Amino acid sequence: MDKNWWKQAVFYHIYPKSFQDSDGDGIGDIRGIISRLDYFTALGIDAVWLSPIYRSPMVDGGYDISDYRDIDPLFGTLDDFRELLKQAHNKGIRIMMDLVMNHTSDRHPWFMESRSSVDNPKRDWYIWHAGHNGKVPNNWRTNFFERAWHRDEVTGHFYYHSFFKEQPDLNWRNEDMKRAFFEIFRFWLDMGVDGFRLDVVNLIVKDGLLRNNPITLNHSKIYNRNQPETYDILREFRILLNEYPGTTSVGEIYVFPCGNPKLAASFLGNGDDMLHMAFDFSLIFCTWNARKYFRAIQSYYKALPPAGQPCFFISNHDAGRSLSRFGRVRHTHEKAKLLTVMLLTLKGTPFIYYGDELGMTNARISRKQIRDPYGKKIWPIYRGGRDRGRTPMQWNDSESGGFTSGEPWLSLHRDFRKVNVENEIADEYSVWNTCRKMIELRKTLPSLQLGNIEFVETGHNGILAYTRTFDDQQVWIALNFSSRKQNLSRFSQNCQLLFSTRPKIVDTGKNLLYPFEAVVFTKEAALMPLSSSGIMKNPPI
Ligand code: GLC
Repeated sequence: MDKNWWKQAVFYHIYPKSFQDSDGDGIGDIRGIISRLDYFTALGIDAVWLSPIYRSPMVDGGYDISDYRDIDPLFGTLDDFRELLKQAHNKGIRIMMDLVMNHTSDRHPWFMESRSSVDNPKRDWYIWHAGHNGKVPNNWRTNFFERAWHRDEVTGHFYYHSFFKEQPDLNWRNEDMKRAFFEIFRFWLDMGVDGFRLDVVNLIVKDGLLRNNPITLNHSKIYNRNQPETYDILREFRILLNEYPGTTSVGEIYVFPCGNPKLAASFLGNGDDMLHMAFDFSLIFCTWNARKYFRAIQSYYKALPPAGQPCFFISNHDAGRSLSRFGRVRHTHEKAKLLTVMLLTLKGTPFIYYGDELGMTNARISRKQIRDPYGKKIWPIYRGGRDRGRTPMQWNDSESGGFTSGEPWLSLHRDFRKVNVENEIADEYSVWNTCRKMIELRKTLPSLQLGNIEFVETGHNGILAYTRTFDDQQVWIALNFSSRKQNLSRFSQNCQLLFSTRPKIVDTGKNLLYPFEAVVFTKEAALMPLSSSGIMKNPPI
């Protein structure tokens, strides 16, 4: 087995409640995922990351776990999960679990014990403080913009929670807790899971003195995250994973807003001794602008240690769908294809959020329909909240889009009769087929999987262009973010078109890159000379 498979793999992120229901209760489940394994094979997916499916009161969509060693009945049973592992592995698909290290549910037995008295042996497994004359210990706020300390009636002390009060933060400075938590990793590794996505992993350790955060305009959060001790824990985590060859990990480095490539990269250590990969959020905050993408991508590459593996995502269950971020939803189909080509040709491991391969957009959700408590809280600043990017998968144009035979837990996007798997498979130039063909191309070309990347200065602000080079194979990628045609004639000689998001053949002198078109081609000529800055001296476009 190649223990570095994850460097070449294409990952697919599922929000399990919304992927496929198998029993008609309107909620996606494990058996539903099993029934769709051939879908991953058809698309070319190598590994699936599942948002949490553990036992949970579901205050925060499963990110509030009350039993880390069991599956929530909403999704099935442990046996269903074992069956998923077995069947997925038989088809060569790996399964990555989502593990929440930062906090548990307040219904977790550890917390129930911890809250029961000040001298309970598990008291120190969470972050407790008596407060200052009845007042909160410090000025820390939650990521949901509220006071982060909750006074517990049992002992009258405060506990700290980075998210909802039903999600008390664990104390990673406590060795017993740490050991117990590492046994949870082992439990799933022994069962055969292929890795973990670690939820908000940069938040797990807090300042030992619980110092106040400085009060600045952007509420700079210094003391309740990004503590140096986190790196030691991740080193231990990597040692554990190394005992299970072929497993991998990706950490969510939560920085809101904007992302922080340097911080994300720091959690890879020397590239071999902490996380395998780290999610930086910068691309999530890019507007539709080739330069902005260039800068965000370039800063991330620059920040990585030489052995560090980059990874990219453009949508997720919190941030919603990439296509809905660019103001008025116009040319969505073409933009979705361009982004798909970008994600699948950048150097690094791509993570596709379910439904993005169809060009799904955020749904309109009325206040009444919102299920996510955060969405309810923040209405109307953030209309629809996180639910708008969590709507059920659109399989076909039947009632409920083939997602369920019952009433879906959240309404489908109203475009599902048009934007769905069945329709898109039949259309050669759909987003789905763009995704499938690009994955296929990526698999046949070592340059797209492993090659170096160099950005090309094209002279056009609207074009993002780069090469991927491996041995003597070089592939060029040009993404036209602009709504204008761009001339490609300077580059038409000796080039062979490998892929275009439009039906055309580039073989004449009048080559044009159409609005929002993305193309991939090879140059048969020798490698173009590079300047010392790494930018091509004579860009072909
Ligand atoms: C992560 C998850 C998000 C959750 C939060 C708290 O950011 O992606 O959905 O609400 O952590 O666990």
